[in-house]
Amino acid sequence: MSNTLNNTDLIKLNREFGIGDQLTFTEGPAGFILAEIKNPHGEATVALHGGHVLSFRPRGHEPVLWLSRNSHFQTGRAIRGGIPVCWPWFADHPTDADKPAHGFARTADWAVSESEKLEDGSIRLRLFIADSEKTMKLWPHRFRLEMDCTVSDVLRTKLISTNTDNKPSVCGGALHSYFNISFISAIRITGLEDCSYIDKVDQGRRKVQNGAVSINSETDRIYLDTKADCIIEDSGLPRRICISKNGSLTTVVWNPWVDKAAAMKDFGNDEYKRMVCVETVNADTDVIELAPGDTHTLESIIRLESLTEG
Ligand code: BG6
Repeated sequence: MSNTLNNTDLIKLNREFGIGDQLTFTEGPAGFILAEIKNPHGEATVALHGGHVLSFRPRGHEPVLWLSRNSHFQTGRAIRGGIPVCWPWFADHPTDADKPAHGFARTADWAVSESEKLEDGSIRLRLFIADSEKTMKLWPHRFRLEMDCTVSDVLRTKLISTNTDNKPSVCGGALHSYFNISFISAIRITGLEDCSYIDKVDQGRRKVQNGAVSINSETDRIYLDTKADCIIEDSGLPRRICISKNGSLTTVVWNPWVDKAAAMKDFGNDEYKRMVCVETVNADTDVIELAPGDTHTLESIIRLESLTEG
């Protein structure tokens, strides 16, 4: 099924997977199909284009995820903001610069496979893609990739990769989360202290993080061997965004700052002040080897805490 609007598809989706007024399928920008989730604890929107969580907000709070006002909503292009799914490689393809950055999952047409209301009132939605003639040209492996998200006052997102081929495969990936912040100078990120990182804006030099991360220039860092929760402390809102994870030993922190923001068509010139990416990643030495039939789950769990907690 294509992820742009067709009324019959919408009626079918709502009939098969809708859950009262808590999970409905609607038409979004450019006719994209959106899953709108709303329950007493929180709300989220998921686009079938890219299997992409666009927004998340616990009830009574400001949005947790950031979405660019200039984002493309166009077939074949990635959405700027929310949680793009990067897969089966992270960033540039390791050997072929003509292949799309961050893989093909974020621009693919995803389909819905499951939805349910859990006992605690959360709504769970599962989407998937699988290999096709098109994906085989970019990555010659048979696979099934699922994006499973559970929405309450916490957003739990799982990226589940299964090797359905009869030969091994190696994949990287990310839940490339963009967070909404009050102001870039009002935040600091904890949880990466003493971790080694690759500094992509300083010729890939290896460095060690000293104290919390503050951002006051272009930042693009691949932190290695990261296991702890990351916390974005935002004195402006004021709140803490806590990002826990499973199945990932890599965390990427990214902010394009002035020049790079201005060079990107789908990013407002001043928007770098209101966002930061803290990404749950498999990359570098943390790529995943899957034997035939094997599955790997990359999971990110995002919750808010008030600044006085913890
Ligand atoms: C980050 C990378 O994950 O994504 C950056 O570390 C990259 O190098 C950024 O610039 C955005 O990538 P894209 O392909 O969405 O513009």
